[in-house]
Amino acid sequence: MKPADIARAVELLRAGELVAFPTETVYGLGADALNPAAVRKVFEVKGRPADHPLIVHLAENPMLDMWAAEVPRAARALAAAFWPGPLTIVLQRARRVPDIVTGRQPTVGLRVPNHPLALELLARFAGGIAAPSANRYGRISPTTAAHVRTELGAAVPLVIDGGPCEVGIESTILDLSRGRPVILRPGAVSAAEIAAEIDVEPEIGAGDDDSAPRVSGSLPAHYAPHTPLRLVGDDKLRGEVGSRLAQGLRVAVLARTIPRIYDNRVFWDRATPDARTYAHDLYAHLRELDASGSDVILVEAPPEDEAWLAINDRLRRAARDSGEEEEP
Ligand code: TXA
Ligand code: MG
Repeated sequence: MKPADIARAVELLRAGELVAFPTETVYGLGADALNPAAVRKVFEVKGRPADHPLIVHLAENPMLDMWAAEVPRAARALAAAFWPGPLTIVLQRARRVPDIVTGRQPTVGLRVPNHPLALELLARFAGGIAAPSANRYGRISPTTAAHVRTELGAAVPLVIDGGPCEVGIESTILDLSRGRPVILRPGAVSAAEIAAEIDVEPEIGAGDDDSAPRVSGSLPAHYAPHTPLRLVGDDKLRGEVGSRLAQGLRVAVLARTIPRIYDNRVFWDRATPDARTYAHDLYAHLRELDASGSDVILVEAPPEDEAWLAINDRLRRAARDSGEEEEP
């Protein structure tokens, strides 16, 4: 990344243009959060329905009261504990937050990302940057600048390259707007870590970050490769590969523990067995598997414990949204 990029990014944001930037979770597609015309461009470039709210990214030591109408003590405690970091906090919005940012909801999602370039950009811009993940609607979130360029190309005037994202999956979303804490999307900050700060165990929401109060009827579609994806238990994976090959299909596999199957109709990708590195690499793996020209992607199902909660959430959505059902 060239030092001039941040200065140019600030100019572009001030002029109502879009800038893609790295965070520790995934790359974001940013616009000046107080400029509705700029934010509208984000929806156009992503092809995202207008009722899906965007997260507002803030600089270090954010003045929460400028963005939220009510800031409960729990929000201040969690901000102090986890920001900058992969936690988004949903609060009652301040009046000045434009409708287009919040999808006309009475709430706003706020977070301070933990990436040096994002923090520098936010500090120099001195305002909120509304940013979803920098992918087309329903597709895999980008974890490198190259992913953003491949996916959005010339539609984005500047992509700040901050290297591969450290966490690799999107932030935990915690709703504190309804009196009791509810996790709307699991991420790297766990329910137990949140509970340790606020002495209340957060509820786990419907397991769908699209379940936020919004108009009904919009289709949930997230994190999906184009190729159908199926989660398969480690004991069944070899058999499943065999039966797909017998159907004349080409198979891509994301293995974690099972030994490689050598067959020229099988594209084999190995993920690390530990959750942190698995999350870091997950979206790059899914892109690779998707590009392999296979008919189906089989993913060795990870364990069901807490450390894998956010990963299993993303894999289930990818399976569902790619049209394949999950193993019962
Ligand atoms: O890690 C992340 O959160 C990344 C980086 C770029 O910060 N951003 C991200 O944004 O994943 P996006 O737009 O792809 O996903 C944000 C999710 C959406 O599902 C949206 O519905 C939800 O957050 N969200 C945003 N504001 C909300 C609100 N006020 N109430 C409920 N859900 C909200
Ligand atoms: Mg997204």
